[in-house]
Order: sequence, then structure tokens, then C-alpha cells
Amino acid sequence: MTSSVLVTGAAGYIGSVLVRALITHGYHVTGLDRLSFGGESIIDLLHHPSFTLRRCDLNDHDAVDRVLAERPYDAVLHLAAIVGDPACARDPDEARRTNWEAGRHLVERCRARGIGRFVFASTCSNYGRMSDPTRYVDETSPLAPVSLYAELKVRFEQYLLAAENRSADFAPTALRFATVYGASSRMRFDLTVNEFTKDLAIGKGLRIYGEQFWRPYCHVRDFAQAYLRVLQAPAAQVAYEVFNVGDTTENYTKGMLVEHLLKIFPQAKIDRVTQVEDPRDYRVNCDRIRDRLGFSITLRVPDGMHEVADLIRLGIIREPGHPRYYNIPYAG
Ligand SMILES: NC(=O)c1ccc[n+]([C@@H]2O[C@H](COP(=O)([O-])OP(=O)(O)OC[C@H]3O[C@@H](n4cnc5c(N)ncnc54)[C@H](O)[C@@H]3O)[C@@H](O)[C@H]2O)c1
Repeated sequence: MTSSVLVTGAAGYIGSVLVRALITHGYHVTGLDRLSFGGESIIDLLHHPSFTLRRCDLNDHDAVDRVLAERPYDAVLHLAAIVGDPACARDPDEARRTNWEAGRHLVERCRARGIGRFVFASTCSNYGRMSDPTRYVDETSPLAPVSLYAELKVRFEQYLLAAENRSADFAPTALRFATVYGASSRMRFDLTVNEFTKDLAIGKGLRIYGEQFWRPYCHVRDFAQAYLRVLQAPAAQVAYEVFNVGDTTENYTKGMLVEHLLKIFPQAKIDRVTQVEDPRDYRVNCDRIRDRLGFSITLRVPDGMHEVADLIRLGIIREPGHPRYYNIPYAG
């Protein structure tokens, strides 16, 4: 029997890649999205036999209940959110409503309906600044969110995985994603690798603040594979678990990103600005998802740089400055 999965945020940067991977692997997908950036990213899936689109705002709890009542879902993959520090800072009330209250309602309704699996798109930003930058953080490290965006992710994770809420028939999992990059049908150019590559591809120079600061990175298609690993694992292996998603060897400083970019754009003008502190300076160990679920990445940051450079070079994306490619309005 086909597994039926509800994906919130299905038209987004990650969601639109994920739903295609799920369909390819035999799932029926219901995509719930309010289409904040339009729905062109899933245009070919409209009326696809394995896909149902429900245009719905997560904050409309009755509408969410109606979507949940439509099918006996085996799993809910919850990605819809106000995404990123700037977008949450711009409208904190909307961020709280969407990323906290609406998510909590969704969990309550999933439990009430006996939906067994719930996978939450969390973030490695939860770790905040490492106290000792020579060490790696892992899933057991303390969380130190430094933005409303990460604070809400931490709060939701804690609620979802709380010991007092545990039950044998509900298996929630939190995936703490590295910073994502790569081509998606809802392209984003406000993510570090994509943004740096795009700027050089359109002939702009790069101004790098604090080239010594570390961040973990992972390709958007590999994220989709991580979801498949979680869905295919026995519930007992993933229930009430947290997994960092990425690869321990894919942590880069901004300076390292620039070194790779200079191989593609040797003439690039780079302006390095000294910065002493960055609240998001961290290196992440991602061995748990590899060791327990057999997840491995297929792409590395330089692959994503070539991919994004080609999006511009080949004229696949002609107006990379268009607001649709940014989660906050962009003036670059
Ligand atoms: N991009 C990253 O680097 C990254 C890293 C870690 C975690 N994440 C998480 O992954 C998830 C997806 O991120 P993304 O990069 O695809 O973001 P995105 O902004 O491209 O997609 C979010 C989608 O959610 C939808 N949405 C927003 N509010 C909604 C609402 N109230 N009701 C219904 N739909 C709504 C939007 O229309 C959009 O299609 C988010 O939860 C994000 O926090 C992303």
C-alpha cells in the first residue's frame, strides 16, 4: 500500500525538492502551503496522480483540520515556517504564530488523529555560538539560540520531544539541518553559498565579514534523502530523536568558501572585512544520522557552487535580484 505523507511548506525551497523525491519513491504526497512565494515550484505536480495540493494557511486551524481529515496520513513532514533570522525579526508576531502556535496545533491534531510519524524541520542554528570553536557540537550539546527564528525552533523541538508528552503510538523526530544550498525550483539566493556564488556569477564583488567563522552546509537534494531515511527507518529508531543533517566533513569557514569560489571565478574581487565576533560560529558533527540511519551525502559545497553558477551563466535564472528569490525583500 502506498504511504501517504502530508508535507507542509511543500512549495518552498526544500519542500519542492522533497516532494519530488517522495513521489519518486512511491509516496502519495499532500502538499500544504499558503504559497507565499507562488506555486511555480510545483507547477508540474498539479493534478499529478501522486500529489494533491492544498493551498492553506497553517494559522487557519480549521482549514488545517480539514486537510488532516482528508486522508489517513502515515506521516507529517512539517517544513512550513517563517524562515530565517531576518524574516522572523521583521514580523515577530507572525513568526510566533506560524513557527510556534500553528505548529503546536498541527502536532496536537496529528496525535489526536493517530498519525504515527511527525518530522520537524529544525536547524543547526539552534546551537548558536560555540564556546570552544576548536570543537564540534553534536546532538547532545547545549542549545544557545541567538535569534527569534532559532529560539522558536528550540521551543518547538522541546515541546515535540518532551518526556511528559511521550506515547508509544506517536514517533516524532527533529532534523537539525545544516545551512542548505543548491538548485531548487523555488530558488533562494539569500543562503550563503547560493548568494556568494550568484554575486560572483553576475560580476559583483564579494564583501566577506569574518572569514574565519565556521558553518555546516548540506545540499538541498541530500536533505530530501535524509527524510527518506527517517521515513524508512523503524519507528523505534527515530522516535523522540534529534539528528543533525549534513556531513561532519562539510563544515566550512567563509574563507574556505571563497577559496572554492576563486577556482570558478579566478578574477573575482573579494573584500575581506575583519569581524571579531559572529554569534553563529559553529562546526557540527553529523555522524549520528550516518551511523544510525545509514545516511550519506552525495554532493559537496563545490558541486553546489557549480550548479548555482550554471543557473546564472546559462540564463536559467535571468533576474536573480527578483524578490521571489528572497525571504525578505532584497535591494542588491
Ligand atoms: N534553508 C535552510 O538553510 C534551512 C536550514 C535549516 C532549517 N530549515 C527549515 O526548513 C524548512 C523549509 O525551509 P525553506 O528554505 O524551504 O523555506 P521557504 O521559505 O523556501 O519555504 C517555506 C514554505 O512555507 C510556506 N509557508 C510559510 N508560512 C506558511 C503558513 N502560515 N501556512 C502555510 N504555508 C506557509 C511558504 O509559502 C513556503 O512555501 C523551514 O522550516 C526552515 O526553518 C531551512
